[in-house]
Amino acid sequence: MNRDPLLELADRHLIRYVPEFAPFLVERARGSWVWDRAGNAVLDFTSGQICSTIGHNHPRIVEAIRAACDRVLHLNSWMLSEEVVRLAARLAELLPAPLGKTIFLNTGSESNEIAMRIAKLATGRFEILGLEQSFHGLTAGAASVTNSVAHRGYGPQLPGVFTIPAPYAYRCPVRSAVVRSAADPLGPPAHPAPAGALALGDQLLCGPGPAPGDPAPGLTGG
Ligand SMILES: Cc1ncc(COP(=O)(O)O)c(C=O)c1O
Repeated sequence: MNRDPLLELADRHLIRYVPEFAPFLVERARGSWVWDRAGNAVLDFTSGQICSTIGHNHPRIVEAIRAACDRVLHLNSWMLSEEVVRLAARLAELLPAPLGKTIFLNTGSESNEIAMRIAKLATGRFEILGLEQSFHGLTAGAASVTNSVAHRGYGPQLPGVFTIPAPYAYRCPVRSAVVRSAADPLGPPAHPAPAGALALGDQLLCGPGPAPGDPAPGLTGG
């Protein structure tokens, strides 16, 4: 596929936050497919950004966005629309007790910033564990716990951040450190987290994956 010439403008005017942009511009998208400006269909195995692989332009999502925009598009932070209240209530139905409240934010980075603030408030502590090869965003706090991008040149990171190895199913350095009950291997670790620790989940982004020559178990029939 030839590189779209309009990407020259991207090179000149867009700051990259990924190693390289795709060589085509997306003209339209539907489900798992995107089409470039020349009409070529490209099967998009990502179907969206890493942590929201919801597919492209699902008609119900498009209709919900369109209907909301027709009625009310932008409010200041102390006014609410019906959609916001109903979505929060629906999420509360889906969440396990005692979780029942949501804060809606704009980006993954922002969500992680607020998650860390909530953890600090709830525990009275301030130290955060980040995983090797993780990505949590580009804002100051989220970047401090991110280890798949360089930290050099950005000055001091958030104080109290530590890095631990990422789970690696084939030769997992974590598995041997976490002893689970033999009667309940999927249950809680036999060594519980220290009192006051709070777990906040952000999807793990594993960059390089298994090392070369380390096939996933089962793939080779071995
Ligand atoms: C797992 C994960 N966390 C956080 C982020 C940051 O999200 P955003 O780019 O919306 O700030 C990303 C973005 O790719 C992500 O994949």
